[in-house]
Amino acid sequence: MKNNTVESLIEEKIGLDAEAIGRKLVEKAVSARMEQCRISSVRAYAEALENSDDEWKRLIEMVVVPETWFFRNREAFHYLVRFVTDDWLPRGSGRPLSVLSIPCSTGEEPYSIAMALLDAGIQEDRFSIAGIDISEKALERARDGVYGQASFRGKDLSFRDHYFRRKGDVYRLLDPVRGKVFFKTGNVMERHFATGLTYDVIFCRNLMIYMSPAARNQTLKTMSRLLDDKGIFFCGHAERQTALDRGFEAINETGVFACRKIRRESGEKAAAWTAEKVPVSGIHGAGSRPDENKPKFIQKPAFKKEVQSSERTDEPRKPEPDTIDAAMENPADLFPKVKELADHGKLLDALELCEIFLNENPVHVEAHFLMGLILEALHDAERAEAFFNRAIYLNPEHVEALNHMAFMELHRGNKAGAERLRKRAQRIGMGGVERRSTENQSSGRRYGK
Ligand SMILES: C[S@@+](CC[C@H](N)C(=O)[O-])C[C@H]1O[C@@H](n2cnc3c(N)ncnc32)[C@H](O)[C@@H]1O
Repeated sequence: MKNNTVESLIEEKIGLDAEAIGRKLVEKAVSARMEQCRISSVRAYAEALENSDDEWKRLIEMVVVPETWFFRNREAFHYLVRFVTDDWLPRGSGRPLSVLSIPCSTGEEPYSIAMALLDAGIQEDRFSIAGIDISEKALERARDGVYGQASFRGKDLSFRDHYFRRKGDVYRLLDPVRGKVFFKTGNVMERHFATGLTYDVIFCRNLMIYMSPAARNQTLKTMSRLLDDKGIFFCGHAERQTALDRGFEAINETGVFACRKIRRESGEKAAAWTAEKVPVSGIHGAGSRPDENKPKFIQKPAFKKEVQSSERTDEPRKPEPDTIDAAMENPADLFPKVKELADHGKLLDALELCEIFLNENPVHVEAHFLMGLILEALHDAERAEAFFNRAIYLNPEHVEALNHMAFMELHRGNKAGAERLRKRAQRIGMGGVERRSTENQSSGRRYGK
């Protein structure tokens, strides 16, 4: 067995691609760990890794790239301040701005965020910052707040005079800034990473460049889940295109490399309906637990009225128990729960849970079909189509999926394609697309309005 077994394990566990971080570095790390553990075969080391969290921690420390410095790409911090002062503050949210820096490495990035916001005159109780990284060593240094020359690059170091005290060769960060960041160990590849939290601002820079394509995908999905609909997402310059290919749109500011979630008309409406989010001092110390306040893309008028009235109260509302976490306690009930959530219009929760279910049950035809329905209701036709296609691939006689596909073809003007699918559905014996009007009505199951 070669080292690439361990490389695969690393990719699976933390998303890092050996090619991107340097195959030599990985080989060196594995050899060193094997020697330390007195293990002579890679196979035995791979087994040891799979059975020991401690060994994982040790290997991780040797393969991560902790390179970072204060105000790395300064334009991003200028734009952050503009976003907060020109967009977020005027919205008049009653809760503090929640910011996530993932990965935060040794803390330079989240502390730069804190300094930028304080410099802009944002009161310290108006924002909270979570710094998350997989490396416990890096986080230890972050909490210490003591930095050498390598953390200070670029010409303008005036912030160092203001926020640090020099002690010999090193600089100690002053407590008012240190106290503004809450650090936590976390692996962005964990399926339930930060479940239930949302952030107004996410910095996820210089991580995806080291990841495999699949891990980048998963990371972006997670970022999309964690980002508030009106929030902004900062990535590295080499990472933004991947984000733009996967559900984000560019904020066109030179040198900033920020994006936001693609705004759809229904999403905008829903955001306007959303009540104030309740701040929590939850597991990450920053972020909001959305639950009932999650944007509900498609709502019954009665709900709209109810939320609007609650928006006027000054009383913070208690968050409901986390729907996803609760559902996870009974894996056998997961799929019925997805259906129940979808039937009740809780589409985002249904979507999230269905993704989890599909990860465990990748060939479950009805789950693919249901994902299609949910995405269709969320007006994400492209992804809906992919799921309907998968349902048909898994069961070529799936009449409902064929009907939905026929309808989509018709909608985009491909009458011949729609007719082909309709005939195929008819042949299977349950009738085709003519059972649905072209006015976006369905005789079949549909979620939403
Ligand atoms: C190059 S630093 C980026 C720091 C900072 N965001 C910046 O741009 O300066 C990369 C960091 O990613 C962390 N990392 C690698 N894989 C991770 C994972 N799966 N989850 C969380 N952090 C991870 C490493 O520990 C390392 O500190």
